[in-house]
Amino acid sequence: MPFEKELSKAPVRLPNPHISDSLLQIINNRVSTKEYCSKRLDEQDISNILWAAFGKNKKGTRTIPTALNEKNLKIFMLNEKGIWLYDGENHTLNKISNENALPCLARQDYVQSGSLNLVYTGSNPDYSPLHAGSAYQNVYLYATEKGLGTVVRGFIDKEKLHRALGLREDEFVIIHQLIGYPDKKD
Ligand SMILES: Cc1cc2nc3c(=O)[nH]c(=O)nc-3n(C[C@H](O)[C@H](O)[C@H](O)COP(=O)(O)O)c2cc1C
Repeated sequence: MPFEKELSKAPVRLPNPHISDSLLQIINNRVSTKEYCSKRLDEQDISNILWAAFGKNKKGTRTIPTALNEKNLKIFMLNEKGIWLYDGENHTLNKISNENALPCLARQDYVQSGSLNLVYTGSNPDYSPLHAGSAYQNVYLYATEKGLGTVVRGFIDKEKLHRALGLREDEFVIIHQLIGYPDKKD
């Protein structure tokens, strides 16, 4: 490749990306959605989303690469009726609490109109946030492909969530991801 041989200060113009290719098109269309309509996600949507985030892949590892093959990323699903922990190994949701912890997430008005609330937590300060980023990006790409909307949010009450999710001392809340059907104004 020419730019590997030459040492020049001039920027090297790369060939245009093939954004008509399906995955590149999805990447090109990805956005954060901050307006949702009242349509709710169904169980199949939730299954697909959680699998995309941190399910078991064909190889038997996870849908995202993980440092040291660590599995300590946790994904919680929160709604008015309680809190569930996703088990990616068995693709199950396990209820851990009857508490409605949604108020810990609702620091922006639009949050209430979304349908599915996920909270990512971890215990490795170096790698867990990277794992959460890979997982939430998978969800962004899935949502884009399916006409769903999503947004990740750091503006949440992490202290209260830490308690509500029953995290250990060495665990920490990373980020919230909201998913739903976008509000199409036109
Ligand atoms: C780590 C992180 C934290 C974010 N926190 C918030 C947030 O608290 N509230 C919010 O409305 N959007 C939040 N966002 C979404 C950004 O506002 C959004 O990604 C940015 O404006 C770029 O828009 P786009 O995602 O549509 O390209 C966050 C995004 C990231 C990656």
